[in-house]
Amino acid sequence: MRSVDYDTEQYQDYARGRALTQQQLGVWINAFEAVLPDRRPLVGLDIGSGTGRFTPALADAFGPVTGIEPSVRMREVARTRSQHPGVRYLAGAAEDMPVPSDSADYALLFLSWHHVQDKTRAAQELTRVLRPGGRLLLRANFSDHHPRPWWLEHFPNGYEVDAALFQPLHEVIAGFTSLGWRVVSFDTVTEPSSGTYGDMLERLRLRTLSFFAQLSPDELETGFRRLEQTVAADPGAPAPVFAEPLLTLELR
Ligand SMILES: C[S@@+](CC[C@H](N)C(=O)[O-])C[C@H]1O[C@@H](n2cnc3c(N)ncnc32)[C@H](O)[C@@H]1O
Repeated sequence: MRSVDYDTEQYQDYARGRALTQQQLGVWINAFEAVLPDRRPLVGLDIGSGTGRFTPALADAFGPVTGIEPSVRMREVARTRSQHPGVRYLAGAAEDMPVPSDSADYALLFLSWHHVQDKTRAAQELTRVLRPGGRLLLRANFSDHHPRPWWLEHFPNGYEVDAALFQPLHEVIAGFTSLGWRVVSFDTVTEPSSGTYGDMLERLRLRTLSFFAQLSPDELETGFRRLEQTVAADPGAPAPVFAEPLLTLELR
């Protein structure tokens, strides 16, 4: 994978390119609630919190959250977008988190696991910071359980290129079970539609997905040309939905 430096790429457009409606956010919070303990408050970590797409909503739903994010620019955007008394953002990475041992009830990694360079170290660090019984919510893609967003196959080898950014499911699970974690569930979540085909094309043009960083200029041009042709046929129709994987693990 060509790594993405969020301090020089994407940070200006990420919040717009990856915006969630309140309804979509609500679907995710419900999915997290279904795999978290009932007691409140829960102490949460949003690891790779980015522009804070989820962090304030996690704090509203479950209790205080620390967003851990390596990119200065992404943290700046997050702090500008929302000041929430239950949220703080700290510099750090999954491999090295500035939080005490046994201090969190859950950690969310929402599309940040594939950016983690040293996954062994990150799994050890998650084992350190979560309390026994703590839960890890991995909204990751997996090379063998990869979602099929409607737009992806317009790009040359789009599905294969995107799936190759991710580990197979068994590899992720083995990395955690070897450290004493167990699988709670492996499910999918389907967000309500993001809007019309036309809306989605405008957002895809912002290229706030790591997938686009893997393509050559020719592949980008071909893909967007094909996409424009498809969208032009019915720009006002709702963009189709697709199922996204969510793996939940528990530290024994
Ligand atoms: C696709 S964004 C996801 C941001 C946020 N979770 C969301 O869903 O909007 C990936 C984020 O992971 C961060 N990241 C990169 N390397 C990381 C690491 N080693 N540990 C934690 N986060 C990392 C990036 O800086 C970026 O903000």
